Amino acid sequence: MKKIVTIALSCLLIIPARADEGMWIPMLLEKYTIEQMRQAGFKLSAEDIYDINKASLKDAVVGLGREGQPFHHFCTGGIISDDGLVVTNHHCSHALIQAHSSLEHNYLRDGFWARDKREELANPGITASILVRMEDVTEQLAAAIPDDERDEPLRDAIARLTRETEKNNPGTRASIKPYFNGTQYFLSIFKIYKDVRLVGAPPSAIGSFGGDTDNWAWPRHTGDFSLLRVYAGEDNEPAAYSGKNRPYKPATSFKIATGGVNEGDFTVVFGYPGTTREYLPSFAIDQLVELENPRKIKIRADKLAIVDRAMESDELLRIKYSAKAAGIANSWKKWQGEIKGLKRFNSAAEKRELENRFTDWAREKPAYAGLVERYRDLYAASNDYTLALVYATEAGTRGAEIMAFISQLQAKFSRLPDQPALAAYRAALQAEADAFFKDYDVDTDRQILAEMLRLYNTAGLGDRWIPGVVTFTGDHERLAADLFEKSTFTDPAKLSRAISTLDARRVARIEREPLSLMLAGINNFLETTIIPPLREIQLELLELDKSWMRGLMEMQPERLFYPDANSTFRVAFGKVAGYEAMDAVYYNPVTTLAGIMQKDNPLVHDYNVPPRLRALHAESGNIPVCFIATNHTTGGNSGSPVLNASGHLVGLNFDRAWEGVMSDYSYHPEICRNISVDIRYVLFIIDKYAGARHLIDEMTLVR
Ligand code: ARG
Ligand code: ASP
Repeated sequence: MKKIVTIALSCLLIIPARADEGMWIPMLLEKYTIEQMRQAGFKLSAEDIYDINKASLKDAVVGLGREGQPFHHFCTGGIISDDGLVVTNHHCSHALIQAHSSLEHNYLRDGFWARDKREELANPGITASILVRMEDVTEQLAAAIPDDERDEPLRDAIARLTRETEKNNPGTRASIKPYFNGTQYFLSIFKIYKDVRLVGAPPSAIGSFGGDTDNWAWPRHTGDFSLLRVYAGEDNEPAAYSGKNRPYKPATSFKIATGGVNEGDFTVVFGYPGTTREYLPSFAIDQLVELENPRKIKIRADKLAIVDRAMESDELLRIKYSAKAAGIANSWKKWQGEIKGLKRFNSAAEKRELENRFTDWAREKPAYAGLVERYRDLYAASNDYTLALVYATEAGTRGAEIMAFISQLQAKFSRLPDQPALAAYRAALQAEADAFFKDYDVDTDRQILAEMLRLYNTAGLGDRWIPGVVTFTGDHERLAADLFEKSTFTDPAKLSRAISTLDARRVARIEREPLSLMLAGINNFLETTIIPPLREIQLELLELDKSWMRGLMEMQPERLFYPDANSTFRVAFGKVAGYEAMDAVYYNPVTTLAGIMQKDNPLVHDYNVPPRLRALHAESGNIPVCFIATNHTTGGNSGSPVLNASGHLVGLNFDRAWEGVMSDYSYHPEICRNISVDIRYVLFIIDKYAGARHLIDEMTLVR
């Protein structure tokens, strides 16, 4: 554990390398990155971005999370007014917009615009965190734990330091996370706001124009934005939702550039990228490309076929399944792009070459002896477990939707309270059931279960890797129908009756229903047969990952390393740039409204341009819609503010271009591009399409 200290110090000696690739730690910009940023055209200082003594741009960035896991940011947003107005993506608010939608008020289809603050809609459970400051706590943690020990003591030390930090900084929440494969640790202190309201969203035909057809692809024409507002208590501090809360007054907010971007312009992205694995060994890439991704893709393709059919058949089902389908399709498509990109750029071979060099270099260094071979053996040992895990989860516990719902409710059944608390307990269960059934279609899910069972049994896994409860060679449709028929969870009326009379005997009876038993069987299989051995392998891999990182840093002292994304605040800089997508195809970096009209096709759901937008195009002429740049981004960066050299907002990040989506594992500057919606298109839609001038008036526009 002491070793991490040496690494932290040796970092000081590292000399900047190439730009574009990298997601940088805000508190270390001054030390490592600002020089490069300035060379690339940035006009501000590191303190303009991150300063703990006075307002800086970081104060205008929010990480969107959920109560219960507020540090796991699903998206990013930017504050664009002194009244806590936040701009983020449409797809980030998709589930919220859907939750407020019904056949009468179909905000997904028609859009939503609050005419004043009273009309803004509350979203219980959604949080917006603002970074107060960061600290390198590597040495502190190292000092807190004995030299030769790991995991347990480390976890305790982290928990202790987190608690202390929160105690010493009242009103804040602290989170400590590993960086550089666990060789360094940084603490982030946040204020977490809990009253986040929906202010505006364009119709899906603008906000997710192109839908899953264009997802992960360029050229793109999506007006992927929505508006939220952060509310605070009277003291401007985080407070639970209340009608008395006031719009949050930020330390600073983003000014909006109306001048747009041109090819070659400097751009910087602030946000909360979720996960990247840039330092994996070749064996991991092989496993991903050959084993894991193909199977997950197949399982999701079959699910999607069923969900798509349902959505095509019925307008209400389209609303119910809108966010779910987008979620299933999003990873399904990304995984395919990853395989393509990793193969095209020979990423495994590239990594193997580095491993060979490492092995040569490490020959005389006992600390790294046999490291690459050990990697190889561990990945080989994990193949079967990984595959079994994919099926047990993607097709099993998270296969049919009902499975996750059963887990969720049964976990609570086991905590049946005594009489006085019983009424509230039942009401809470009923509320969960209502929320679930609001967006659930039993016929669709029964078909999914049948398909998952069929897939599971025809995957050629071998008996050892399938739980007995799932093994079945007969008619899977009939099996699924029978399981559904005999389950309390698939029928809202039956479930309500059960909840209102719930007692220990009833709980036991429900647990013996065949569908519940199947789920329990899969869970038991995971807990006994798959997870423990896999965890052993993974623990050893974590140790290897640390040595690998230390070794690489020693072997390549000139290289400027950046830590993998871990859902903490990062800064990525680059420039607006087109790219050569394939033989003879060069993509320009900017799309326009004219391109929307070229895609216009009322017969294709994803390309059905709203008549009003068509009319506006005729009136207003051409305007920019999206642009691409070389900023290194990943999932979680959606909604990230994209700024120009002067630190003014020029766009919102929302996606990456198809040929480069392998960037989570292997970044290639010639082809990896992030996609942003041009802020001028956002303003155009708010002003001209929605007529919500009052929102524009809140913002500060600069030339
Ligand atoms: N691919 C983008 C991201 O990963 C956008 C996804 C939302 N759009 C969609 N059609 N599913 O989040
Ligand atoms: N669309 C992603 C997001 O939601 C961004 C990406 O993966 O590039 O964060």
